[in-house]
Amino acid sequence: MSGQEETDSSIKQEVQGEEDTDTSETEEKNEEMKDEAGPEVEEDPAPKEKSVWVPSVLCTISKERHSFVGYTIDIYESLDSFGAVIWPAALALCQFLDNNRKQIDLLDKTVLEIGAGTGLVSIVACLLGASVTATDLPEILGNLCCNLNRNTRGHCKYTPQVAALCWEQDLEQSYPRSIYRYDYVLAADVVYHHDFLDELLVTMKHFCLPGTTLVWANKIRFQTDLRFTDNFKQAFHTTLLADLPEQEVKIFMARSREE
Ligand SMILES: C[S@@+](CC[C@H](N)C(=O)[O-])C[C@H]1O[C@@H](n2cnc3c(N)ncnc32)[C@H](O)[C@@H]1O
Repeated sequence: MSGQEETDSSIKQEVQGEEDTDTSETEEKNEEMKDEAGPEVEEDPAPKEKSVWVPSVLCTISKERHSFVGYTIDIYESLDSFGAVIWPAALALCQFLDNNRKQIDLLDKTVLEIGAGTGLVSIVACLLGASVTATDLPEILGNLCCNLNRNTRGHCKYTPQVAALCWEQDLEQSYPRSIYRYDYVLAADVVYHHDFLDELLVTMKHFCLPGTTLVWANKIRFQTDLRFTDNFKQAFHTTLLADLPEQEVKIFMARSREE
């Protein structure tokens, strides 16, 4: 059983700008006028506090609730970046992993997720018994880390790790192949309208070594997605694991051509 159970949208943060009003200068001037005019002159009434315009920044954060692997998973989302909401291929991949535990057996396996976003796929992999490293751009990691901790603490064999990984950048320095070898690499909806498709493929090749299984789920949206799919098929030995026309999502499995 799985699926979205609840969406809770709430105003989370209200930031108000403040403006300091310096009244000391005005007070000094009043004192001077009092001295010049003598004691008979009526004092000015105390200066009224000016009402200042206060900007208000509202940030809406919503919570999605899903059930996978027999657990309720609460994912906090925000609307400020691509990685801050759950994308359709992530839901499809979680469902697939939950329903096909023998085919993709994650128990005691090392798993790397690239473009993890809110972390739902990594959480499900953790709940299925994997040792997971969830990666994304640096600005995504705070929320990713919170979602992972909140949903895995106390009921997973391995504590998930979160790390920055910008596609193609410093891969051999940060993740040398001789050390960083994973049983599985997972990726959901990492192909959409962006300029880093070549870098993404380089990253997939870097981590998909002999012995590694790459599982990529994607909602196909644009012509560029089809071009990427062709390049992906050329780069790896690929198998179509699932074709889900209702969600317009395909799930591919890939292995290194060096095997
Ligand atoms: C469409 S979102 C999918 C998020 C998540 N996998 C899901 O399905 O819900 C794509 C993710 O890729 C990440 N991403 C985009 N460009 C990237 C890059 N050059 N390097 C690393 N991550 C990137 C984004 O930050 C985002 O989290």
